[in-house]
Amino acid sequence: MARIVVTGRIPSDGLDLLRRHHEVTAWDEDRAITREELLGFVRGADGLVTLLTERVDGELLDAAGEQLRVVANVAVGFNNIDVDACVTRGVTATNTPGVLTEATADTAFTLMLMATRRFGEGERVIRSRTPWQWGMFYLLGMGIQGKVLGIVGAGAIGIAMARRAKAFGMSVLYTGPVPLTPEVEAELGARRVEFGELLRTSDVVSLHCPYLPETHHLMGAHEFELMKPTAYLVNSARGPIVDEAALVAALQAGELAGAGLDVFENEPSVHEGLLDMDNVVLLPHLGSATTETRTAMAVLAADNAIAVLAGRDPVTPVTPVPGRG
Ligand code: GLV
Repeated sequence: MARIVVTGRIPSDGLDLLRRHHEVTAWDEDRAITREELLGFVRGADGLVTLLTERVDGELLDAAGEQLRVVANVAVGFNNIDVDACVTRGVTATNTPGVLTEATADTAFTLMLMATRRFGEGERVIRSRTPWQWGMFYLLGMGIQGKVLGIVGAGAIGIAMARRAKAFGMSVLYTGPVPLTPEVEAELGARRVEFGELLRTSDVVSLHCPYLPETHHLMGAHEFELMKPTAYLVNSARGPIVDEAALVAALQAGELAGAGLDVFENEPSVHEGLLDMDNVVLLPHLGSATTETRTAMAVLAADNAIAVLAGRDPVTPVTPVPGRG
């Protein structure tokens, strides 16, 4: 039996699975563990199951100790993990792709509809007890049918977003380092274009790329200038892909029509400038937040940790498995 430390609360199916194989210590308070507590909590672990709110760097890996073999992140994004620090210490890192694709695409699509149709704004009217009346020109938004959706990063979630868009009558452009197969392009009616062309021609730009040094502030002042003044930005990927201050400035200058954001540059803080803008929809990082999805994520992370500790290949590694090239 190995020792697994779970650094935050996860659904019981994942925890029970871990407990059937190993000795498990799990942080079970409602509040997130502090960094200082975390450094002590992980000591002696053979495996860590981590959340996206934890920074997994050399300091944390060293605090766990030399016996550490796996870090199983309960998230598809793994920008919270210093992959090089894992590799140099022979620690395998894993993530949870696949199981959250549909829930996250649902979130992006909802953000798009809420922003373009001004539904958040409408809800705020009623909740603030502001008098209102049906009117031919009251709170008119932009219909998405016949409009162009620009997908930045056509991985699994980007593709799932494109499928939804096609079903709603949108046409799809995408950018990304790797072209989709002709079959998938045909199924989605999607066309690969240069980033600049996507920005200039899309009515909605939706971000689905990973957060990497190369995608830091991918959307900044210059990119907002390229967008149509009638276009919307949707971000359900990672906050720092967008220069939030530049987004606020662009919205104030009318360089784009609005935005739907599930993620923020300095979570849980949100740029003050966004809070009072009625053309911006803000969600508190709910991308994968369904009971079914979070359960599947916890179980996949547990499967990954158990596999590595048993000497098997993990299901979804993000680092090369030590000793296997
Ligand atoms: C959520 O943001 C994830 O990366 O899984």
